Amino acid sequence: MNHHPRHYLAVSDLERDQLLQMINRAIELKKRHKQGIPHRPAVGKVLGMLFEKPSTRTRISFEAAMFQLGGDVSFMPSRDLQLKRGEPLKDTARVLSRYLDCLVVRTFGQEIVNELADWSDIPVINGLTDQHHPCQILSDIMTVMEFKGHDLPRLKVAWIGDGNNMSHSWIQAAARLGFQLTIACPEGFEPDQAILAEARAEASLPIEVIHDPRLAVKDADVINTDVWASMGQDDEAEKRRRIFRPFQVNSDLLADCEKDAIVLHCLPAHRGEEITEEVIEGRQSVVWDQAENKMHLHKAILEWAMRLQDQG
Ligand code: CP
Ligand code: NVA
Repeated sequence: MNHHPRHYLAVSDLERDQLLQMINRAIELKKRHKQGIPHRPAVGKVLGMLFEKPSTRTRISFEAAMFQLGGDVSFMPSRDLQLKRGEPLKDTARVLSRYLDCLVVRTFGQEIVNELADWSDIPVINGLTDQHHPCQILSDIMTVMEFKGHDLPRLKVAWIGDGNNMSHSWIQAAARLGFQLTIACPEGFEPDQAILAEARAEASLPIEVIHDPRLAVKDADVINTDVWASMGQDDEAEKRRRIFRPFQVNSDLLADCEKDAIVLHCLPAHRGEEITEEVIEGRQSVVWDQAENKMHLHKAILEWAMRLQDQG
């Protein structure tokens, strides 16, 4: 096995066709799963999951995906590894590469997943960093396609809230896959300028950053929000609650948008903060399908990363 490992650390790591193939494969795998057709190409493979932050969906959907593919999982809270006592990332990466077939990492800085990938002989998948959430975005777009069709350039997507990791993955996806994106955030909470500039240089349709949520949702087909304080920002939560108040996705805001617009939230949600109970439980919300799709999409990522389809 002398292949270069297939890392997936940010949306920009993959070409447009690869991203679309991944989503289409997930749609196919979802159909098969619903029909009860077994698909176990990962028998004998072990997925490692190195997590430094909490997770419900990403962890369990990757675990379920790997089990359903016939493989096994080793979940590694980073506090339990020698990493926590100072063992270098590059040593950890080389040792884990000798045991595992793939590694999903959830951590703080993007430089941590980059370094692990640089030293790994196995694929490293970013299961969320402070900068990106590249697996989440693919299952989100899969969900958008299920509800809005596959013609992405026709769609207008709105992001309401923080210019955070999820917003960065939306920005990169808008550039790579070609759809309109408008981000409405409070001043001072804009997405990373370098990520934005790089995406705009590539994009065929506008990627806008504005400060008026009403303008952003007008004519939008897809409305996204996310927590106001991400993991690692808990000490800013109180301050952010005040600043972000006008950016709540509530029925008043939705009154200004298309009646058939769908509302996405990668979850976990804070009802009464970024989204109201009424909206998340309302008819425009697709958050439970969105959460389900993570499992199907993660199967497609695991197949791709471990080259399970190449083995016929
Ligand atoms: N959406 C998401 O990544 O959720 P978890 O933090 O529960 O994994
Ligand atoms: N922006 C959120 C996403 C959680 C899935 C966070 O980083 O906490």
